[in-house]
Amino acid sequence: MSSPVECGTMAQVVSSPSTRVMETYVMKCSSEKRALDTYHLILAPSFGCNLRCKHCYLPDHDAAGLAVEDVLRLMEEWSEIVVAERGPMGGIFHLKGGEPLMLSYMDDVLERLAELKTLRFMMTTNGILGDWDVIERLDRLNVVLDGGVQIIVSIDGSNDAINAKLRGTGNFEKAVAFVRGVREAGVTVFLNNVIHRGNLDDIEAFVALALELDAAQVNFLSFVPKGQGEEMCFGRPNPLEVFERIDAIWKRGDERIRSLLAGSLSDILHNESCGICTSRECVGGYRGLLYIVPDGTAYSCPNLNHAGLEAGNIHERALAAIHDAMLRKVYAKVRTPEDDMRDRYSCKGEKQLPNSSEFLKGDFVAIQKFLSQSGNDQGSSYCFNRNW
Ligand SMILES: C[S@@+](CC[C@H](N)C(=O)[O-])C[C@H]1O[C@@H](n2cnc3c(N)ncnc32)[C@H](O)[C@@H]1O
Ligand code: SF4
Repeated sequence: MSSPVECGTMAQVVSSPSTRVMETYVMKCSSEKRALDTYHLILAPSFGCNLRCKHCYLPDHDAAGLAVEDVLRLMEEWSEIVVAERGPMGGIFHLKGGEPLMLSYMDDVLERLAELKTLRFMMTTNGILGDWDVIERLDRLNVVLDGGVQIIVSIDGSNDAINAKLRGTGNFEKAVAFVRGVREAGVTVFLNNVIHRGNLDDIEAFVALALELDAAQVNFLSFVPKGQGEEMCFGRPNPLEVFERIDAIWKRGDERIRSLLAGSLSDILHNESCGICTSRECVGGYRGLLYIVPDGTAYSCPNLNHAGLEAGNIHERALAAIHDAMLRKVYAKVRTPEDDMRDRYSCKGEKQLPNSSEFLKGDFVAIQKFLSQSGNDQGSSYCFNRNW
């Protein structure tokens, strides 16, 4: 266990909603409040994509989706909620998909964000279609938002052969070129890397790549067997083994490496090592966290989009009403019972997997046993899966 630290000193530069520059990002809050510190709306306006990754959790890659008017209205509604409850720049508008760089109305979205000047912008992309024109537009928005743009690029290996196991041959260099271009423009880049049984040995090399590319953060995501990726041949690795490998890097890492691993379980455990507080549950179902899919259905997050966990539909109700219903319609169904601290480091979405195998359940027990801290119930809540 790492040496004690003052509570709340995670490897992130920003946790206060009023701070503009966000070097790293950890989705967190006090469990008592059941509302994210920094609000976060994730929008998949379409599932259309230029790739067909083997692990992809989406149900399809249908290009149909929300019209530009719906998206612009949604941004305005979200801006009003964020400003009222968290202040200007206290919330994120996060474009995801499918592949956001395929959106025909991307320019309109970026322009409206620049006009509003109230929301931070995040985008998760495979980076393949990211040319200089795109980079220039992101750069302009980043200047207007005073550094409030974070681009997350998904790369699943430190070289083309490993990345190709999920993402197909020849895509590594294209994604890396995009990352370099975005960094040259001075825009913050995070990397997403999905850990599966075919890239476990690559974690250390991937951290080295992230440093070389000057990424601010690496999100190692656990592979979730669902959607098109349900049968992915490499399968889900033992989460305890994944944790131990990342933790070894974290423990011998310098400040830069620890900052790169902001929001990882190691970072969270380090934060808790003061002995005062402990994790209470994941943030699934909390106020301030929304995931909206192409047909307009709003869920809490991409891992909690199971049937029965809908908070509403933007074609039928105002976003404020959907947001107000989140605790009642979602949280109440997925919350961790007060007296049950056994799986407080688990993603509620993974726990809800309808076809959760005995293998998965066994995994949870093993990692919870390992992680459980002796702190009292002054809990914080985090996103443990980080699949945003
Ligand atoms: C669905 S993609 C959409 C954005 C973009 N197309 C991309 O690949 O970054 C968003 C993120 O989810 C990750 N992802 C997809 N399927 C997953 C799965 N089965 N388990 C965990 N993460 C997954 C992707 O690797 C990516 O980082
Ligand atoms: S993970 Fe992203 S890039 Fe890959 S198929 Fe899914 S949406 Fe497309």
